[in-house]
Amino acid sequence: MEYIYLDNAATTKVDPRVKKVVEDFLSECYGNPSSLHKMGRDSAHAVDEARVKIAALIGAKEDEIIFTSGGTESDNLAIKGILEKNEGKHIITTTIEHPAIYNTCKYLEKHGYEVTYLPVDEFGMVDPTDFENEIKEDTVLASVIYASNEIGTIEPVKELAAIAHDHDVLFHTDAVQAVGKMDIDVHKIGIDMLSLSGHKIHAPKGVGALYVSNDVKLAPILHGGGHERGIRSGTENVPGIIGLGKACELLRTEMAGDISHMKGLRDRLISNITENIDKVKLNGHPTKRLPNNANFSFDAVEGESFVLHLDGKGIAASTGSACSSTELKPSRTLMATGCGEVEAHSSVRLTLCKFNTVEEIDKTLEIIPEIVNNLRMMSPLWEE
Ligand SMILES: Cc1ncc(COP(=O)(O)O)c(C=O)c1O
Repeated sequence: MEYIYLDNAATTKVDPRVKKVVEDFLSECYGNPSSLHKMGRDSAHAVDEARVKIAALIGAKEDEIIFTSGGTESDNLAIKGILEKNEGKHIITTTIEHPAIYNTCKYLEKHGYEVTYLPVDEFGMVDPTDFENEIKEDTVLASVIYASNEIGTIEPVKELAAIAHDHDVLFHTDAVQAVGKMDIDVHKIGIDMLSLSGHKIHAPKGVGALYVSNDVKLAPILHGGGHERGIRSGTENVPGIIGLGKACELLRTEMAGDISHMKGLRDRLISNITENIDKVKLNGHPTKRLPNNANFSFDAVEGESFVLHLDGKGIAASTGSACSSTELKPSRTLMATGCGEVEAHSSVRLTLCKFNTVEEIDKTLEIIPEIVNNLRMMSPLWEE
């Protein structure tokens, strides 16, 4: 059975061209970038080249890129690193952040910081006026997700960053889901820090980066040999970094085509499902959403059962976010948009990538109504 992978917000397949360069660096060029000899210098040079490619994708300067182990570390470094170097005990974030931000903020609350979690509207959108109203004398940092990993809503990051700066507040965004799915230019948007992760953009797992504006002072959270200009110690994950660089290089030339391909598939899924299945709701914003995200709540269908039935038919999808899909708690993001617990439990997220095909989507569209019907027939909640 050909497996249809529609869980690309959880992780993506490594692009074969990325795999090739990673393999070369695993086997041929394994010097430590800190070593003085030729193999070390070659590795250091390759890491610097990767840095240039990542910077170019997001409009940053190369010395504004710090390599990390992924989105979670980038988020932790951004938030904790800023707090150590800047005065102020108040942070603003949102109720729909990924746990890498949300739980970091919860941790900080136990260590003397005050955190405001901004609400969102029914589509998962933050209101810039609410944001401005929450800023106070003591606010040091705001962190707002660029686009939701669960419902795909794209936040008004440019507007929020401008408001933050009007009040001398630093602005970070978790762009782990947005990079590669939309044009991002950190200088034009005016953000101070941005997190990204390799495994969401067809590079390997365990590598990521944090963009930090040269105007911002950041303290390390990992102490050691002083790598990455003293901000992130630890021998560089050279193969991972090379892979991330290659993935960003490919995105620079291919992203526009990838986006329109994913949008086409996403809209095919959304229009077909909402037109042909009764009592289904599209979660997230109808238009301001990631090109690869479709998230639905089907009345009287339990999300976990749905995902297991899809899996049985050879289709990978998820409920809520990958990180919480093994928990039985309803999704915090969906609850924040005003869904009740039952509705939140009936959500399924289908997320696409450049490798998905129209045939795969059509096959999925054939299978979904059958599963929805079967689950509804067994559900005491179903009323026709
Ligand atoms: C929005 C967002 N932030 C952060 C992360 C964590 O990234 P990583 O898995 O690279 O630690 C994820 C992963 O799902 C994510 O979707």
